[in-house]
Amino acid sequence: MSSPSSPREQWGSKIGFILAAAGSAIGLGNIWKFPYVAGENGGSAFIIIYLICTAVIGLPVLIGEILIGRTTQLNPVGAFRALSKSKFWAGVGGMGVVAGFLILSFYAVIAGWSLGYIYESISGGLFAYADPTKAADHFIELTNNVAWIIGYFAAFMILTMVVVFAGVQKGIERGSKIMMPLLFLLLIFVMIRGITMEGSSEGLKFLLEPDWSHVSGQTVLIALGQAFFTLSMGMGAMLTYGSYMSKKTSIPTSALQIVILDTAIALIAGIAIFTSVFAVGLDANAGPGLIFHTLPAVFTKMPGGEIIGPIFFILLTIAAITSAISLLEVITAYFVDEKGWSRHKAVLVFGGFTFILGIPSALSFNVMSNFTIFGLNFFDLVDYITSNIMLPLGGLLIAVFIAYVWKFDKALVELKNGAENIFNNYPLLITLWQIFIKYFAPVLIFLVLLHSIGLLDFLSL
Ligand code: TRP
Repeated sequence: MSSPSSPREQWGSKIGFILAAAGSAIGLGNIWKFPYVAGENGGSAFIIIYLICTAVIGLPVLIGEILIGRTTQLNPVGAFRALSKSKFWAGVGGMGVVAGFLILSFYAVIAGWSLGYIYESISGGLFAYADPTKAADHFIELTNNVAWIIGYFAAFMILTMVVVFAGVQKGIERGSKIMMPLLFLLLIFVMIRGITMEGSSEGLKFLLEPDWSHVSGQTVLIALGQAFFTLSMGMGAMLTYGSYMSKKTSIPTSALQIVILDTAIALIAGIAIFTSVFAVGLDANAGPGLIFHTLPAVFTKMPGGEIIGPIFFILLTIAAITSAISLLEVITAYFVDEKGWSRHKAVLVFGGFTFILGIPSALSFNVMSNFTIFGLNFFDLVDYITSNIMLPLGGLLIAVFIAYVWKFDKALVELKNGAENIFNNYPLLITLWQIFIKYFAPVLIFLVLLHSIGLLDFLSL
């Protein structure tokens, strides 16, 4: 256990937390997952539900999660235990550590594709992609290649481990500062190219004219899961980052900034991808390969695409690293704080385990594609269980914990640190936060979860 005499490492600057937390939130979830999940679930109707989930459940629970971390300055398990003295709640923190481990195992597989596409686009193969169906075929060829998929997966895991090895400030904070704004700029370029391509209006229609006929309870669950996934919340990553945060920083303001940035990037990526998908005549329903089918064809149609292509995949890979380190950091912080392990040992052991667990996910795109459980391949199953069940459940428990176990009288004292301005000038916002945490978030998440397992079918919603 860390000794009380050595103060816990903190972010180097006030903006350090924002950058690192935004680095965690912004990643493959925005650029790879959001477009393909929206594509599979009917486009704009899904996006509207996702935006509602983000505002009504995401933001309030995110504030709560960061608050628990900053108050206790501990890892998820230690934090819940410290505030409740209860094994059950410590177990809730433990569920988060497990979820982080599971998410990282499939996340790193996809990040490996992005890494592999840096080489694909630099090696000049990009020009062979001018024909969009060829670009899609090429992707399928690559992911059918077990050595390719496992090799890049391993390479990405090693990259992530090196960063977490270096420790909180040096590793995590520095990287986020420079790269994120650049990625933002490039995405805007790609979006403009997408919108100006002939035939892109079909894509805009898909994004702007909601078709509610595709929406079911399942859609709502997936939208909620996406909101949690993309904000890195519900499993203690934001709690852990909050534990390195200074009490002089306003949590509500920081959380709002993270939500706005993260949502903006997802929407920009969505517009970029769907205008392009329709313009080049690809299928919006292509699943996890969607951006890898589409983007190469877009880059060949952009002035300077030979340069923009590789830079894009470099930045996407870096965005994935800043997200992956937050997942590995949760596991590391747990073993360092609670089990007294050295940081290096925790990173090596769990990086290794994550790699082993990720192998069946990597093989889901080739030799194990026919192996399904509940109709999902291994990759989709791990994604479904973590994103759509464990994260919303984690969020539900965080809200219940704050409102009914820790209680607002104590929570508000902590929330006020750094946020005096909001407390003094906009007390209504604080009241609203309490109402959302106490009633809306728990009840809504509970209903969505119940519905998804079929328990509300009698209402024939
Ligand atoms: N939010 C990241 C993304 O959008 C992924 C991620 C990082 C994550 N840490 C997380 C998802 C914790 C869930 C929980 O790419």
